[in-house]
Amino acid sequence: MTLSDDTLLSTLPTEALRDWLRALPKAELHLHIEGALEPELMFALAERNGVRLPYPDVAAVRAAYAFSDLQSFLDIYYAGAAVLRTEADFHDMAWAYLQRAAADGVVRAEIFFDPQTHTTRGVAMGMVIEGLHSACERAQRELGLSAALILCFLRHLSEADALATLEAALPWRDRFIGVGLDSSERGNPPEKFAQVFARARALGLHTVAHAGEEGPPAYIHSALDVLQVERIDHGVQAEHDPALMERLAREGTALTVCPLSNLKLCVVNDLAQHNLQRLLHAGLKVTVNSDDPAYFGGYVLDNYVAVCQALPLSAGEVRRMARHSLEASFAPDSDKARWCAAMA
Ligand code: ADE
Ligand code: ZN
Repeated sequence: MTLSDDTLLSTLPTEALRDWLRALPKAELHLHIEGALEPELMFALAERNGVRLPYPDVAAVRAAYAFSDLQSFLDIYYAGAAVLRTEADFHDMAWAYLQRAAADGVVRAEIFFDPQTHTTRGVAMGMVIEGLHSACERAQRELGLSAALILCFLRHLSEADALATLEAALPWRDRFIGVGLDSSERGNPPEKFAQVFARARALGLHTVAHAGEEGPPAYIHSALDVLQVERIDHGVQAEHDPALMERLAREGTALTVCPLSNLKLCVVNDLAQHNLQRLLHAGLKVTVNSDDPAYFGGYVLDNYVAVCQALPLSAGEVRRMARHSLEASFAPDSDKARWCAAMA
């Protein structure tokens, strides 16, 4: 189905909208692989590894997914990751996500992983990285989906811990393309991680950071100025700082926005009030992503559908966001050109 740029997408029946959005080539640039661990797989891995979960069944796990803010989510999310013990566990989790992403029309996935969540439990760095990496290779081979890993530092831990984590990952330097910064934002500003990001840049790694999810616009400034990141994860609080909005537009910095995440973590009360379209109209490079789909009730296609039904987005605006995602990815230029050329 070919739609003119001015078609208002909310007027389409849901299935037609979903089909049109699925056919758009898109990159997912903000996806925590531990956040793609579905309760069914969590239980299967708990049984495989003899781990006791504090829930009787899958329904009870899902019922616990009612969050009031970022921290209330993170507490449950880190507890769920305790079932991950072996290389096969990491492979299976990533493979499940990648199959789902391919079915959503994702042609490129840049996947965050949190090694500190696992190494502090005694899981070896190599188990984590090799398990995830083999799933990425399999995705290219079996699904034609290009996938790459981004190692994230947990910002509630110290910079010394982050530096040690980066050094411990260096034997697998060719298995990840960049570093990121996630976990509890408030009270943990980007400048706390200046040295480890400088070290990562010196190693030729790409850099991204969560900033302005719950935290103030000042954190977005310091992610750009101090960490010199190439993309901002979330960034929705930029709207409170007109000078920052102008800067983001001028510099063409991509924001990896996660609408259903913002709704579930009470960053917004209603998707109809989400600022994604206002950010887009202000000239920002907005992209749509899922963050932690198993916890927030939606993969990337669900996020596209939800914003198209909540906001008066046109086909041209949504094509623009999908194109932003491809352009802002760290994939080779030749791949980006091929994907963009396939855009309806
Ligand atoms: N880790 C997983 N999801 C996250 C989010 N939305 N913000 C910060 N850290 C996270
Ligand atoms: Zn995130």
